[in-house]
Parts: sequence; structure tokens; C-alpha cells
Amino acid sequence: MSNNKIESASPHVLPSLPYADNALAPVISANTISFHYGKHHKTYVDNLNKLIAGTEFADLPLEKIITGTAGKADKTAIFNNAAQTWNHTFYWRGLKPKGGGEPPAVLKKKIEASFGNLDACKKELANAATTQFGSGWAWLVLDGGKLKVVKTGNADSPLIQGAKPLLTIDVWEHAYYLDYQNRRADYVSAVLDKLINWDFAAENLG
Ligand SMILES: [Fe+2]
Repeated sequence: MSNNKIESASPHVLPSLPYADNALAPVISANTISFHYGKHHKTYVDNLNKLIAGTEFADLPLEKIITGTAGKADKTAIFNNAAQTWNHTFYWRGLKPKGGGEPPAVLKKKIEASFGNLDACKKELANAATTQFGSGWAWLVLDGGKLKVVKTGNADSPLIQGAKPLLTIDVWEHAYYLDYQNRRADYVSAVLDKLINWDFAAENLG
């Protein structure tokens, strides 16, 4: 499933989860999913639809709304809700039951060229995820032909810097607090070892 599949037009809809709400347990519980997907993600979509109704953004695809509102002080609310809608859909697709393990060969080769080996890539992702101060995201991106790890605050997305996201880890407290309380590092390492969907990341290279 490529990034482009996330594009949707008004009214934007909350995409179905690609697995059952208890399929990521025990790393991410059904209870966390019920709040994170069922309330937070849904609210971003609902707010976005309300905010863009009757504006120049009403009929634009999601990515165009994000790039068209980024950095504009009077469009912050639209940007935040559009980017959070996109980021969450991308996050859910980048996880899967029985994930982790070895990436497909095409991605593994790129990881080795950019980081040396898979462990170094995972360490860099974990470091970005745990050191992002406050709310935000850690990302594996393709930028200028190389893979990089970047972190963004709040709703920000590598899309606005022109990089191509391959996968992301949500490090807002709502992503882990019910299951891990303040232990963000434990959430991040469990996600990387047991849920990360390298197939999805590899598909996004194309
Ligand atoms: Fe989130």
C-alpha cells in the first residue's frame, strides 16, 4: 500500500484498521486502540471535515491540505487535524501482528547502505522516538535516495520537507500511556521488535 493510498477527498473518512482491535496485544492493547483509533484518530478526521467545510481546502486531497497549510499561522488548526489524520493512518498501516523481524531484501539492502545494519537502524529509530521532547513522531524516510531517521513534533510531518515517509512511530502519550504509563522506551522497543511492518515500509520505497 503506497503513501498515495492515504489520499482521500472531502468528506474525509476514518479508514478501517488493517487488523482487529486486539490483534496488536499485548504490545498495544485493545483498550489503547479503542481510545487511540476510536477517539483520537476519529476526532482528527471529524475536526478536519468541520474546519475545511466551505473553504478552499474542502475538495482537496489530504496531502494537498497538509502541504497547503503547513507553516501558515492562520491555518494551524486545519494543518494539525489534516496531518494528524494522515500520520495516524500511516502509523496503523506501519504496524502488524507478528511484525518486526527481517525486512524484505530490497529494504534491507537500503537499510544496510544507509545505517550499516538493521540493528543500527532500529537503534536510531528508538533513539529518535525516545528523545522527541513532548508529543510527536519518529520516522524512517527516504530522502535524496538515502534512508534517514527523523523526528517531528506534535502533528508535523516529513511530507512538508519533501521527504518520503516509509514508516512512523507515534510517541504522543496517548499511544502508550494506558499500557506503559511513562515507559515510552519500553513501548518503542516492543513496537520495533514485535509490530513494525517492514513490508509496508518496503512498499513505500516504490
Ligand atoms: Fe496518536
